[in-house]
Amino acid sequence: MNISRLFTALSIAILLFSCTQKEQQTEVKGLKQYYTDHFPIGVAIGPRALSTDEAGLIQTQFNSITAENAMKMGPIHPKEDEYFWEHADSIVNFAVRNNMKLRGHTLCWHNQTPSWLFVDTKGDTVSKEVMLARLKDHITTIVSRYKGKIYAWDVVNEAISDKPGEFYRNSPWYKICGEEYITKAFEYAHEADPDALLFYNDYNEMYPDKREKIFKLVNDLKATGVPIHGLGLQAHMGIYEPIEEYLDSALTRFSELNIPLHITELDMSVYKKEHGRRERKPEDDNTAFTPEMEQKQLEQYKLTFEIFRKHKDAIESVTFWNISDRSSWLDNFPVRNRKDYPLLFDKDLNPKKAYYEVVNF
Ligand code: GLA
Repeated sequence: MNISRLFTALSIAILLFSCTQKEQQTEVKGLKQYYTDHFPIGVAIGPRALSTDEAGLIQTQFNSITAENAMKMGPIHPKEDEYFWEHADSIVNFAVRNNMKLRGHTLCWHNQTPSWLFVDTKGDTVSKEVMLARLKDHITTIVSRYKGKIYAWDVVNEAISDKPGEFYRNSPWYKICGEEYITKAFEYAHEADPDALLFYNDYNEMYPDKREKIFKLVNDLKATGVPIHGLGLQAHMGIYEPIEEYLDSALTRFSELNIPLHITELDMSVYKKEHGRRERKPEDDNTAFTPEMEQKQLEQYKLTFEIFRKHKDAIESVTFWNISDRSSWLDNFPVRNRKDYPLLFDKDLNPKKAYYEVVNF
């Protein structure tokens, strides 16, 4: 080999080494190893995390990935004839490269929708036929692109109302199509990838009123032959939530559906849970992570995972919503710019006390 060839070979080797360095697997035992006999442990991420030190943490700790925002309707389909693939592709490629499971989130939701979706060029609301044709195009394009890579899709997200006495959420989908959009979404996804597992996903699922509505929706979909294969339970929890009282009974109830349950968006806010966005109040300026919060949070996480392990026959996946306390959606919900500490890793990516409660059993 002459000198110039040797030099080229060396340069390529150095380049390859530095590209993969951020993704080096380490020997540290992660959540995924502790839970090998139970369920995969996933995390919701954005594309930026993949070029920071968070990439290494993801590889060490988790064996399943969800795109936090990149596959939602607005970000991925900003104009009717234009898709934006870059962010979703980078997350999919990362998961494939690292041999991780990949959950798709989400094909039909009332939030983070693109502005063109429900109106025509004059700004008038579209007909049911147009709406369903758009939904079909959207679902078919995305599910086909990631066929064989995404094993499970959250097809419809949050279609049930939180209001007592109201069953379906009165979203633009519902107003234009009635409940049929739900069935159609599942059918379109199934046509595009008959091997993908299709999920209905919702929040506040622990609370008896909402729990029973979710149960009925999924049970009815199954009974009418709709291709639904699993139920996604978001599990946005808080340190003051009555987990002991509600989580176990919700999981027992949902197990009766006889379909896999995925915990899809787990986190544990250190504030009192509120379900709607609100204005800032003076007390929101106090955002220290106190020893009391830390203690309460570790107890809640311990309990939560005890209950998950108890239901391991029904639960087939547990995913955290975000990586670490460095940043999470709860820093801006329900109050903008109020720091929260909902995860198992602190802002320096070190395991918190709660982490050890989750892995020592
Ligand atoms: C819901 C959605 C998620 C995400 C969270 C907050 O639970 O399903 O996609 O938007 O809210 O981040």
